[in-house]
Amino acid sequence: MASALLEGLPLICETSPDWAPLAKSNLDEVLKDHAWCEYKAASAGLGLMARFPEHEFLHRPMVALVQEEMLHFRQVTDLLKKRNVPLGAPPTDPYVKKLRGLLCAQGSGIGGLGDHLIVNAFIEARSCERFRVLSVALQDGNDEEQELSGFYQRLADAEGRHWESFRDLAMQVCDFKVVLRRIEEAAKIEADLLRSLPVEARMH
Ligand SMILES: [Fe+2]
Ligand SMILES: [Fe+2]
Repeated sequence: MASALLEGLPLICETSPDWAPLAKSNLDEVLKDHAWCEYKAASAGLGLMARFPEHEFLHRPMVALVQEEMLHFRQVTDLLKKRNVPLGAPPTDPYVKKLRGLLCAQGSGIGGLGDHLIVNAFIEARSCERFRVLSVALQDGNDEEQELSGFYQRLADAEGRHWESFRDLAMQVCDFKVVLRRIEEAAKIEADLLRSLPVEARMH
C-alpha cells in the first residue's frame, strides 16, 4: 500500500528515512535552500511563458503560480530573518538540474512544452513529499518546531496543487493517455535519480 506521504502524488519512491533527522538538525541550511527553491519555482513559471510564447493559455495559471511561489519565498525569508540567518547566494540544485536533463531530453514523444510541464510537475510533487516528511518530523518538537510543522503542512498542500496544475496543463497540450504514460516513465526516472543522489540537508 502506498504511504500517506506519497498520497495523490505521481512519485513511486519515498525520501530516505535518513533525510528527516538530518534536515531537522540543520534547519537553517534547509530553510536557506528552501527559500531559493521557491524563488526558482517562480522563475521557472516566468521562464515557461517566455519560452513558449505561442501558448497563451499558460499566462493565467503561470501568473498565479509565480505569485504564490513568491509569497512562499517571502514567508521563508521572513522565517530566516526571525532566526537571524542570512539567505546567502542561491545554491546549485543537482536534483533539479539532472531531472531537467533527463526528462527534457529529445524524443520523449510529448513535445517540448509537454516535457517542461512534466518536469515541473515532478519537482512540485517531490517538494510536496519533502514538506510532508518535514512536517511530520517537526510535529512533536518544541513550540517553534510545531509552528514550522504547521507551516510545512500548508506548503505541502500548495505544492500538491501545483503538481496537479502542471499535470492538467500537460493534458491540455497532449492526449491524456500519452501524458499518463509519460508520467509513469518519468516516475521511474525520478526515483532512480533520487536514489543516486546523496542524502543532504537541503530540500531536494
Ligand atoms: Fe512553493
Ligand atoms: Fe510550487
